[in-house]
Amino acid sequence: MLLGKTIVVTGASSGIGARTAELAIAQGADVIGVDIREPAAPQANFIAGDLSTPAGIEAVVSRLPQRVDAVLNVAGVSGVIGAEKTLAINFYGLRAFSEAIAPKIREGGSVVNVASIAGYGWRANLARAKAMVGVEGYPDIAAVIAENGVKNEEGYPLSKELLLLWTMKAAHQPLFKSRGIRVNAVSPGPVETQILKEFRSVLGDAKVNSDIDRVGRAGNASDIAPVVLFLASDAARWINGANIANDGGLEASINADVLGF
Ligand SMILES: NC(=O)c1ccc[n+]([C@@H]2O[C@H](COP(=O)([O-])OP(=O)(O)OC[C@H]3O[C@@H](n4cnc5c(N)ncnc54)[C@H](O)[C@@H]3O)[C@@H](O)[C@H]2O)c1
Repeated sequence: MLLGKTIVVTGASSGIGARTAELAIAQGADVIGVDIREPAAPQANFIAGDLSTPAGIEAVVSRLPQRVDAVLNVAGVSGVIGAEKTLAINFYGLRAFSEAIAPKIREGGSVVNVASIAGYGWRANLARAKAMVGVEGYPDIAAVIAENGVKNEEGYPLSKELLLLWTMKAAHQPLFKSRGIRVNAVSPGPVETQILKEFRSVLGDAKVNSDIDRVGRAGNASDIAPVVLFLASDAARWINGANIANDGGLEASINADVLGF
Protein backbone atom coordinates (compact mmCIF):
# COMPACT_ATOMS: atom_id res chain seq x y z
CA MET A 1 0.00 0.00 0.00
CA LEU A 2 2.97 2.33 0.49
CA LEU A 3 4.96 1.26 -2.57
CA GLY A 4 6.29 4.31 -4.41
CA LYS A 5 4.71 6.81 -2.03
CA THR A 6 6.75 9.76 -0.83
CA ILE A 7 6.31 10.09 2.93
CA VAL A 8 7.65 12.82 5.20
CA VAL A 9 8.32 11.61 8.75
CA THR A 10 9.12 14.18 11.44
CA GLY A 11 10.98 13.07 14.54
CA ALA A 12 12.67 10.46 12.34
CA SER A 13 15.91 10.34 14.33
CA SER A 14 14.56 8.55 17.36
CA GLY A 15 11.89 6.33 18.87
CA ILE A 16 8.52 6.10 17.13
CA GLY A 17 9.55 8.33 14.21
CA ALA A 18 12.70 6.28 13.51
CA ARG A 19 10.75 3.01 13.55
CA THR A 20 7.98 4.50 11.39
CA ALA A 21 10.53 5.66 8.81
CA GLU A 22 12.26 2.27 8.81
CA LEU A 23 8.99 0.36 8.36
CA ALA A 24 7.77 2.68 5.60
CA ILE A 25 11.03 2.13 3.71
CA ALA A 26 10.65 -1.64 4.16
CA GLN A 27 7.16 -1.32 2.63
CA GLY A 28 8.52 0.42 -0.45
CA ALA A 29 7.99 4.09 0.39
CA ASP A 30 10.45 6.88 -0.31
CA VAL A 31 10.91 8.43 3.11
CA ILE A 32 12.14 11.92 3.88
CA GLY A 33 13.08 12.12 7.56
CA VAL A 34 13.07 15.46 9.36
CA ASP A 35 14.50 16.04 12.84
CA ILE A 36 16.36 18.63 14.85
CA ARG A 37 18.91 15.93 15.75
CA GLU A 38 20.91 13.77 13.37
CA PRO A 39 19.68 10.16 13.16
CA ALA A 40 21.73 7.47 14.93
CA ALA A 41 21.85 5.40 11.73
CA PRO A 42 22.34 7.28 8.44
CA GLN A 43 19.11 7.92 6.46
CA ALA A 44 19.15 8.35 2.68
CA ASN A 45 16.90 11.43 2.63
CA PHE A 46 17.29 13.36 5.84
CA ILE A 47 16.65 17.04 6.47
CA ALA A 48 17.94 18.57 9.69
CA GLY A 49 15.63 21.29 10.92
CA ASP A 50 13.80 22.84 13.83
CA LEU A 51 10.05 22.44 13.41
CA SER A 52 9.25 24.70 16.36
CA THR A 53 9.91 28.07 14.71
CA PRO A 54 8.46 29.73 11.58
CA ALA A 55 11.96 30.15 10.12
CA GLY A 56 12.87 26.52 10.79
CA ILE A 57 9.61 25.32 9.26
CA GLU A 58 10.06 27.47 6.16
CA ALA A 59 13.60 26.17 5.68
CA VAL A 60 12.46 22.53 5.87
CA VAL A 61 9.44 23.01 3.59
CA SER A 62 11.61 24.73 0.96
CA ARG A 63 13.82 21.60 0.79
CA LEU A 64 10.93 19.17 0.35
CA PRO A 65 9.88 17.96 -3.12
CA GLN A 66 6.89 19.54 -4.88
CA ARG A 67 4.72 16.51 -4.33
CA VAL A 68 4.42 14.25 -1.30
CA ASP A 69 1.82 11.62 -0.47
CA ALA A 70 1.76 11.82 3.31
CA VAL A 71 3.11 13.81 6.23
CA LEU A 72 3.58 11.98 9.51
CA ASN A 73 3.94 14.40 12.41
CA VAL A 74 5.79 12.32 14.99
CA ALA A 75 8.30 14.84 16.41
CA GLY A 76 7.52 15.85 19.95
CA VAL A 77 8.91 16.62 23.39
CA SER A 78 7.91 15.57 26.91
CA GLY A 79 7.25 18.92 28.52
CA VAL A 80 10.37 19.09 30.71
CA ILE A 81 11.50 22.16 28.78
CA GLY A 82 8.42 24.16 29.83
CA ALA A 83 5.02 24.97 28.38
CA GLU A 84 6.06 27.60 25.82
CA LYS A 85 8.63 25.49 24.00
CA THR A 86 6.51 22.35 24.36
CA LEU A 87 3.48 24.01 22.77
CA ALA A 88 5.75 25.39 20.04
CA ILE A 89 7.02 21.93 19.09
CA ASN A 90 4.04 19.69 19.86
CA PHE A 91 1.25 21.90 18.55
CA TYR A 92 1.79 25.35 17.02
CA GLY A 93 4.88 24.33 15.05
CA LEU A 94 3.30 21.02 14.02
CA ARG A 95 0.19 22.82 12.78
CA ALA A 96 2.20 25.51 10.97
CA PHE A 97 4.34 22.83 9.30
CA SER A 98 1.26 20.87 8.21
CA GLU A 99 -0.39 23.99 6.80
CA ALA A 100 2.79 25.07 5.02
CA ILE A 101 3.31 21.67 3.42
CA ALA A 102 -0.39 21.13 2.53
CA PRO A 103 -0.04 22.51 -1.04
CA LYS A 104 2.64 19.87 -1.68
CA ILE A 105 0.47 16.99 -0.46
CA ARG A 106 -1.17 15.28 -3.41
CA GLU A 107 -4.96 15.12 -3.73
CA GLY A 108 -6.19 12.24 -1.60
CA GLY A 109 -3.01 12.26 0.50
CA SER A 110 -2.89 12.28 4.25
CA VAL A 111 -1.56 13.81 7.45
CA VAL A 112 -1.08 11.69 10.57
CA ASN A 113 -0.49 13.33 13.94
CA VAL A 114 1.03 11.42 16.83
CA ALA A 115 -0.93 12.71 19.83
CA SER A 116 -1.09 10.85 23.19
CA ILE A 117 -3.33 9.41 25.88
CA ALA A 118 -2.10 12.51 27.72
CA GLY A 119 -4.53 14.52 25.57
CA TYR A 120 -7.48 12.59 27.05
CA GLY A 121 -8.71 15.72 28.82
CA TRP A 122 -9.59 17.68 25.67
CA ARG A 123 -13.34 17.33 26.28
CA ALA A 124 -13.09 18.27 29.96
CA ASN A 125 -10.94 21.29 29.05
CA LEU A 126 -12.80 22.13 25.85
CA ALA A 127 -13.22 25.89 26.38
CA ARG A 128 -9.49 26.43 26.76
CA ALA A 129 -8.61 24.04 23.94
CA LYS A 130 -11.07 25.80 21.61
CA ALA A 131 -9.62 29.21 22.45
CA MET A 132 -6.03 28.07 21.95
CA VAL A 133 -6.69 26.18 18.70
CA GLY A 134 -8.76 29.15 17.52
CA VAL A 135 -5.63 31.34 17.45
CA GLU A 136 -4.62 31.02 13.81
CA GLY A 137 -1.15 30.78 12.31
CA TYR A 138 1.98 30.66 14.45
CA PRO A 139 1.14 32.94 17.39
CA ASP A 140 3.05 34.70 20.14
CA ILE A 141 2.91 31.58 22.31
CA ALA A 142 3.97 33.34 25.51
CA ALA A 143 1.01 35.70 25.10
CA VAL A 144 -1.40 32.81 24.40
CA ILE A 145 -0.13 31.04 27.53
CA ALA A 146 -0.67 34.16 29.63
CA GLU A 147 -4.15 34.80 28.20
CA ASN A 148 -5.25 31.24 28.92
CA GLY A 149 -3.65 30.87 32.35
CA VAL A 150 -1.57 27.84 31.33
CA LYS A 151 0.63 26.43 34.10
CA ASN A 152 4.11 25.34 33.08
CA GLU A 153 3.51 21.70 34.03
CA GLU A 154 0.38 21.59 31.83
CA GLY A 155 2.40 22.06 28.64
CA TYR A 156 2.57 18.42 27.52
CA PRO A 157 -1.03 17.27 28.11
CA LEU A 158 -2.33 20.59 26.83
CA SER A 159 -0.26 20.32 23.64
CA LYS A 160 -1.86 16.94 22.94
CA GLU A 161 -5.38 18.18 23.79
CA LEU A 162 -4.91 20.95 21.21
CA LEU A 163 -3.53 18.46 18.69
CA LEU A 164 -6.54 16.15 19.07
CA LEU A 165 -8.98 19.02 18.69
CA TRP A 166 -7.14 20.40 15.67
CA THR A 167 -7.02 16.97 14.03
CA MET A 168 -10.82 16.96 13.94
CA LYS A 169 -10.99 20.57 12.77
CA ALA A 170 -8.31 20.09 10.12
CA ALA A 171 -10.22 17.19 8.59
CA HIS A 172 -12.83 19.82 7.65
CA GLN A 173 -10.43 22.70 7.01
CA PRO A 174 -10.68 23.69 3.30
CA LEU A 175 -6.86 23.65 2.99
CA PHE A 176 -7.00 19.86 3.44
CA LYS A 177 -10.61 18.88 2.76
CA SER A 178 -10.94 20.65 -0.60
CA ARG A 179 -8.21 18.35 -1.97
CA GLY A 180 -9.32 15.18 -0.20
CA ILE A 181 -6.40 15.20 2.23
CA ARG A 182 -7.28 13.19 5.33
CA VAL A 183 -6.06 14.28 8.77
CA ASN A 184 -6.00 11.71 11.58
CA ALA A 185 -4.27 11.02 14.89
CA VAL A 186 -2.76 8.09 16.76
CA SER A 187 -2.63 8.31 20.55
CA PRO A 188 -0.03 6.04 22.12
CA GLY A 189 0.03 5.06 25.76
CA PRO A 190 3.44 4.75 27.48
CA VAL A 191 6.04 3.67 24.92
CA GLU A 192 9.64 2.68 25.71
CA THR A 193 11.56 5.55 24.06
CA GLN A 194 13.76 8.43 25.18
CA ILE A 195 10.70 10.51 26.07
CA LEU A 196 9.37 7.92 28.53
CA LYS A 197 12.45 8.44 30.71
CA GLU A 198 11.56 12.13 30.85
CA PHE A 199 7.92 11.35 31.68
CA ARG A 200 9.20 9.27 34.59
CA SER A 201 11.15 12.25 35.91
CA VAL A 202 8.21 14.66 35.44
CA LEU A 203 5.25 12.49 36.41
CA GLY A 204 7.08 10.12 38.77
CA ASP A 205 7.62 6.38 38.41
CA ALA A 206 4.41 5.56 40.31
CA LYS A 207 2.13 7.23 37.72
CA VAL A 208 3.95 5.77 34.72
CA ASN A 209 4.07 2.30 36.32
CA SER A 210 0.38 2.42 37.17
CA ASP A 211 -0.50 3.23 33.52
CA ILE A 212 1.71 0.35 32.40
CA ASP A 213 0.22 -2.02 35.00
CA ARG A 214 -3.32 -1.25 33.77
CA VAL A 215 -2.49 -2.75 30.38
CA GLY A 216 0.19 -5.32 31.25
CA ARG A 217 3.23 -3.82 29.54
CA ALA A 218 4.65 -0.65 28.06
CA GLY A 219 4.44 -0.25 24.31
CA ASN A 220 7.40 -0.08 21.98
CA ALA A 221 7.94 1.87 18.78
CA SER A 222 7.03 -1.18 16.69
CA ASP A 223 3.55 -1.20 18.27
CA ILE A 224 2.90 2.34 17.07
CA ALA A 225 4.59 2.59 13.65
CA PRO A 226 2.26 0.20 11.72
CA VAL A 227 -0.83 2.08 12.90
CA VAL A 228 0.63 5.42 11.82
CA LEU A 229 1.41 3.90 8.42
CA PHE A 230 -2.05 2.34 8.15
CA LEU A 231 -3.61 5.79 8.52
CA ALA A 232 -1.25 7.10 5.83
CA SER A 233 -2.22 4.28 3.45
CA ASP A 234 -5.15 4.01 1.06
CA ALA A 235 -6.54 1.24 3.30
CA ALA A 236 -7.64 4.08 5.58
CA ARG A 237 -9.19 6.13 2.76
CA TRP A 238 -12.55 6.55 4.57
CA ILE A 239 -10.99 7.44 7.93
CA ASN A 240 -10.80 11.16 8.51
CA GLY A 241 -10.62 13.35 11.61
CA ALA A 242 -10.26 10.22 13.75
CA ASN A 243 -8.04 9.37 16.68
CA ILE A 244 -6.90 5.79 17.15
CA ALA A 245 -5.99 4.90 20.72
CA ASN A 246 -2.89 2.70 20.46
CA ASP A 247 -2.31 1.95 24.12
CA GLY A 248 -3.05 -1.68 24.98
CA GLY A 249 -6.46 -0.66 26.34
CA LEU A 250 -5.41 2.22 28.59
CA GLU A 251 -8.02 4.66 27.24
CA ALA A 252 -10.77 2.07 27.63
CA SER A 253 -9.72 1.54 31.23
CA ILE A 254 -9.69 5.29 31.94
CA ASN A 255 -13.09 5.67 30.25
CA ALA A 256 -14.45 3.00 32.56
CA ASP A 257 -13.19 4.92 35.61
CA VAL A 258 -14.24 8.37 34.40
CA LEU A 259 -17.65 7.34 33.03
CA GLY A 260 -18.34 4.73 35.71
CA PHE A 261 -19.07 1.57 33.73
N1 LIG B 1 7.07 7.50 24.26
C1 LIG B 1 5.88 7.68 24.81
O1 LIG B 1 5.60 7.19 25.92
C2 LIG B 1 4.83 8.47 24.07
C3 LIG B 1 3.51 8.36 24.50
C4 LIG B 1 2.53 9.09 23.84
C5 LIG B 1 2.88 9.90 22.79
N2 LIG B 1 4.17 9.99 22.39
C6 LIG B 1 4.49 10.90 21.28
O2 LIG B 1 5.20 10.21 20.29
C7 LIG B 1 5.99 11.14 19.55
C8 LIG B 1 7.38 10.57 19.35
O3 LIG B 1 8.01 10.45 20.59
P1 LIG B 1 9.05 9.31 20.95
O4 LIG B 1 8.46 8.55 22.08
O5 LIG B 1 9.46 8.60 19.72
O6 LIG B 1 10.23 10.20 21.57
P2 LIG B 1 11.71 10.49 21.04
O7 LIG B 1 12.27 11.49 21.98
O8 LIG B 1 12.42 9.18 20.88
O9 LIG B 1 11.52 11.13 19.58
C9 LIG B 1 11.09 12.46 19.39
C10 LIG B 1 11.87 13.05 18.23
O10 LIG B 1 11.37 14.37 17.97
C11 LIG B 1 12.50 15.18 17.64
N3 LIG B 1 12.23 16.61 17.86
C12 LIG B 1 12.05 17.22 19.06
N4 LIG B 1 11.94 18.54 18.88
C13 LIG B 1 12.03 18.79 17.55
C14 LIG B 1 11.99 19.96 16.76
N5 LIG B 1 11.84 21.18 17.31
N6 LIG B 1 12.11 19.85 15.41
C15 LIG B 1 12.29 18.63 14.85
N7 LIG B 1 12.34 17.47 15.55
C16 LIG B 1 12.21 17.55 16.89
C17 LIG B 1 13.59 14.67 18.57
O11 LIG B 1 14.88 15.09 18.16
C18 LIG B 1 13.36 13.18 18.53
O12 LIG B 1 14.14 12.56 17.52
C19 LIG B 1 5.94 12.46 20.32
O13 LIG B 1 5.05 13.36 19.70
C20 LIG B 1 5.40 12.04 21.67
O14 LIG B 1 4.69 13.06 22.33
C21 LIG B 1 5.17 9.28 23.00
